[in-house]
Amino acid sequence: MVMNWKMNPLTEAQAKTLLTATKKFLPGAIIAVPMLFLAEAAKRKTKSICIAAQDGHWEDSGAHTGDVSMAQIRAAGATYAIVGHAERRAAGDSNEVVGEKVGAAIEQGLIAIACVGESVRDEQGEYLLHIQAQLAPILAATQKSKRAKLIIAYEPVWAIGAPEPMRPHDMHQMTLFIKKILIEHFGASGRSVPVLYGGAVTPENVHEMMEGGEVDGFLVGRASIDPAQIKAFGAAIKTL
Ligand code: PGA
Repeated sequence: MVMNWKMNPLTEAQAKTLLTATKKFLPGAIIAVPMLFLAEAAKRKTKSICIAAQDGHWEDSGAHTGDVSMAQIRAAGATYAIVGHAERRAAGDSNEVVGEKVGAAIEQGLIAIACVGESVRDEQGEYLLHIQAQLAPILAATQKSKRAKLIIAYEPVWAIGAPEPMRPHDMHQMTLFIKKILIEHFGASGRSVPVLYGGAVTPENVHEMMEGGEVDGFLVGRASIDPAQIKAFGAAIKTL
């Protein structure tokens, strides 16, 4: 479970409350916090949770006003970085930039959670080419020996923030498609690269998506900042 807080919550006190609830109810979760809370959250990490950044610059340091580098993220104590989230892509990150960021994250010893996902679906399957094009620079930036440093999160843009997730059957097709590309790149061991699903994930639909969608985990947005939902996720995944 990757809990992506996005630009929430407002205060450090609220962040502590969320962190405590996630530690308690969702051991094993990766929590992607705003940069502002990153160092403090990393100090409070336990064996049961890991801290992720939500983005990071590919250069280690330099004249990049407003940015934070993967090297700084690592130095602050995080162990994961989300890269190429649809909201960062919408803000201008190209496929190539996402590849640079994945390379930098891995170089720093972080695990990159690289996001891909199409904005629209068409009858002709053009969206598959779109996913392939997004994956290409991510894989080019990941040496075969670094396979364990990569997680792919498939998040169709149309399901992010939507009332419903995609259908598990459709997700299953995407899991197969993405794993096939991973195997082409890494060889048979590419199968072990986790493929997560994100977009309107709730405690109510994780079960169905895990079984029908054959996913290895989830990237959660809205529900990650609601203590009641965090608790419900904990109960839901115990039964998986
Ligand atoms: P959501 O967001 O769970 O609120 O749909 C998912 C995401 O953007 O990662």
